[in-house]
This record gives sequence, structure tokens and C-alpha cells, in this order.
Amino acid sequence: MTAMNRFELDEEATLPLYRQLYNQLRGAILRGELPSGDRLPPTRGLADELGVARVTVQQAYQQLATEGYVVSRRGAGTFVVDTLPVPGPDEQPFVPHLAPWGQRVVRLGDATQRAQRSTAGDFIDFGFGRSFPHIFPYNVWRRLLARYLSTDDVMLSRYGSVAGFEPLRAAIADYLRRWRGVRCSTEQVVIVNGLQQALDILARLTLERGDNVLVESPGYTDAFALLRVHGAHLVPLAVDDHGFPVEAIPDGLSARLAFVTPANQFPHGGAMPLSRRLALLQWALEHDTLILEDDYDGALRYEERPLGALQGLDERGHVIYLGSFSKVLFPALRLGYVVLPPSLLRPFIQAKGIVDRGAPTLTQAAVADFITEGYFERHLRRLRRVYGRRRRILVAALENELPCPVSYSTEPAGLHVMLALGDEYDEAAVVRKAAAAGVGVYRGATYFLQPDPPPSVLLGFSGLTEAQLREGVRRLAAALC
Ligand SMILES: Cc1ncc(COP(=O)(O)O)c(C=O)c1O
Repeated sequence: MTAMNRFELDEEATLPLYRQLYNQLRGAILRGELPSGDRLPPTRGLADELGVARVTVQQAYQQLATEGYVVSRRGAGTFVVDTLPVPGPDEQPFVPHLAPWGQRVVRLGDATQRAQRSTAGDFIDFGFGRSFPHIFPYNVWRRLLARYLSTDDVMLSRYGSVAGFEPLRAAIADYLRRWRGVRCSTEQVVIVNGLQQALDILARLTLERGDNVLVESPGYTDAFALLRVHGAHLVPLAVDDHGFPVEAIPDGLSARLAFVTPANQFPHGGAMPLSRRLALLQWALEHDTLILEDDYDGALRYEERPLGALQGLDERGHVIYLGSFSKVLFPALRLGYVVLPPSLLRPFIQAKGIVDRGAPTLTQAAVADFITEGYFERHLRRLRRVYGRRRRILVAALENELPCPVSYSTEPAGLHVMLALGDEYDEAAVVRKAAAAGVGVYRGATYFLQPDPPPSVLLGFSGLTEAQLREGVRRLAAALC
């Protein structure tokens, strides 16, 4: 073999030369290019050819010998060992078997529509589903995190509590009782790595393959995907301006779970009135159904105090309340919480322990201080002020600028508006024409489960300035004509 055309060493690389040579020799042995029994080139000759010190080659050979790839025979040289069962060069990479669960995950693909921010110069993107860094008090956050990063803090050298950092659970319980009308003790609050994880654990605990799950349509596609991989049979009900139409549940149907967004229906918008809430609780009682209440943006209402949670009306333990910090702090935090009825506490915490041993303590501790020291409520007030104003500007622009009647939920809440277009519109074409006119809007069809959904587009307003909101609607108007 000629060493020169086999090995290439880079003097500038940070990896030592002997390690580079070792890696290349090891690769050649494992790929079968240096077969069992072959003699490696003599160290002096190889060092000369490569232009390196002999000790570099000796160190590489020594490392290979220590790991059992080669043996040195005194006076004879260094040989690839005889006993290596290396694969032939043309063997195919191994494709592991996927269990039915894994196969369902692959079949579903990435079911979610991630809003992509265009980088084009003055493109106005009504993207949604993000938080916006200029509103979050990062200086406070950095200071709170730093508190727990001192080396003498014993908290970090231990596993945390599976159910969550106790002061955070207490702070959330207090917040939920005061602001969301949730009835709970600290013990009922469990911290999760985002609301999605709570859904995952609940689905594993309660669902059997083929079980009916009542869902809203349009609805939260990430929840649909998750419930489906756990084998759920989704039963969609078309929502109206007052959310989930309990009275439309087919007679004779039973369902293990119902997944609903009562405070602000996602993505249509609209709150569920008391009569429907009570009817849903009654239905759940009669059908042994658990209700999953997704309250991910329940704190973001702009004109009056947020509606109380459905959970607060539940006397019998049928409602599981799910909350998230993704919208009110930031999504990369991956922190959410679940308020469980006492009957589900133990199974849930045990499952969480088995799955991941608990959420990261460091960020939980910082969020606990963020809440108890008053920053959270101050931040919420600011979000409501800023987002509320942006929503009002968007809605005024929609009223004044659009050439045709459109409808949308008038509920002053959330981070986007879903515009129902007339039946004469082709939704995909509107999105394309809008992009060509320099404005990004998002297809509503993604969120519907029923075939041939009515044409609609989603406009997130939280990340745009007032001027951009107005100009964006002007461009959309041009695309709609
Ligand atoms: C309807 C809905 N529920 C829940 C969430 C929050 O999920 P997570 O806490 O996993 O980020 C979102 C986030 O976008 C959402 O849109």
C-alpha cells in the first residue's frame, strides 16, 4: 500500500496528528480496506512519507494496539488482528425494525405547519406561534438564572422532584387560583416539559387503541398528531364562534377523552359560554369521559379579565387543566404544567418519573422567582397592553382595507386572527398571491379534520409593528382582489 494516497494529515487541525492517523487507520480496518492479517507500513517509512515525526506514527499504532485492532510482533512489524468480524465493503446500513408506534410516527410525518419567517427585505410575515424577544425582560431572567448557578448551590447536584420544583408548583397553583379560577392545591400541579408532554403522558395513561377522542375542528394539529400515534380515533366536531358544540355530539357516542380549548378556541377564536361548559361537564359525567382543557393562552385576553377555567366548574374530577409558558414567556423554555384530579396524580407522576425523571430544576427555579417576585404579572400586563393594541390595529385594518367581506372571531384574545374567506376563494391561491405581494399569511385548511374545509387564512399579529400590520393588510387586500 502507498501511504501517501491513503492518509491525509492536516497540520492546522486542532486534532493531534497521531489521532488523525489513528482515525484513518481505524476506519480503513473497520471498512475492510485493511484486511485481517495485513501488515501496517513500517513506522519509519510511513513517517517519512507523511512528513511527520516517527513518534506520531508510533503513537497511532500504539493506540490501535491498545484497543485491539492491531498486534505488534517483535521484529516482524504491526498486523491487523485476525479475529475482527468486519463487514464486507458492500453491506447495506442496518435499518432497525420500528414498532407500530414508530411506524405511525413516521407515517404522520411532521403534521404541523411551522410558520417560516421570510428573510426578504420588506416582506411582512403574519407568522404566529412565537414569542417576541423585545418584550421579554431578558435582563431580569439572566439575573434569576445566575442566582442558581453558583457552585455552592446543592440544588443543581441532585435530581429534582419528579412532580416539579415545589416553589414553582406553589406559585403556579396560587396564580391559577387567583387568575384562572382553577380549583387546586399545590400537590395537584405537576410541571412538565411543555404542554405537549402532558398530553403525551395522559394519552399513554388513558388511551387504548381505537378509543374515541372528541376534538375540535379546526383544532390543534400537534395534539391531533400525538393522540393519533397513541392509537386514538379522532371524532371531530366543527366549532362555531362559541367553541366546542356539545349539543352536536352524536347520540350513542362514547369517548375516552375530549380535547378542548374553552378560553379561546384554537385556531378559530371564541370562548365557550357557561351553558356549553356545563353541558360538556354533564356529558363527560354521563359517559365517563376525561376532558383535557388546553388553556395555553388563557391569560392573553385584551379587554376584560380572562374567563375562568372550565376546571373551576368541575366537581367530580373529569377535567385536567393544561397550561404552558410557551406563549407568555418563551417557547424554547419547554415548561408547562398540568392540574390533575387526585385520582390521576400518582399514575401521572410515576409515568413522568419513568419517562424523564422530571423537568430541569434550574429553569423551574428561575421561573418560580420570576412569578413570586412579581415579574410574571407585570410581564402579562405588558403583553396584554402591547398585543391588545396590535390586535385592535389589525382588526381595524381588516375592516377598512379589505375589498370584500371576511369574518373572524371578535373575541379580543390570543395571538392571531383566523380570517374566514368567502367560498369563492381558493385558499392556496390567496396564500401564493399574498406572498407574491410581499405578505405572509398561513393556510387554515391545515387545522381542519373534516374534508373540504371553508377557505381561511391565519394572521399572527404579535410580531409586527403597527405600521407593518397596516401595510400587511393593504398588501393582502391587493391579493384578494
Ligand atoms: C393550541 C395550543 N396548545 C398548546 C400549545 C403549547 O404547547 P407547548 O407548551 O408544548 O409549547 C400551543 C403552542 O403553540 C398551542 O398552539
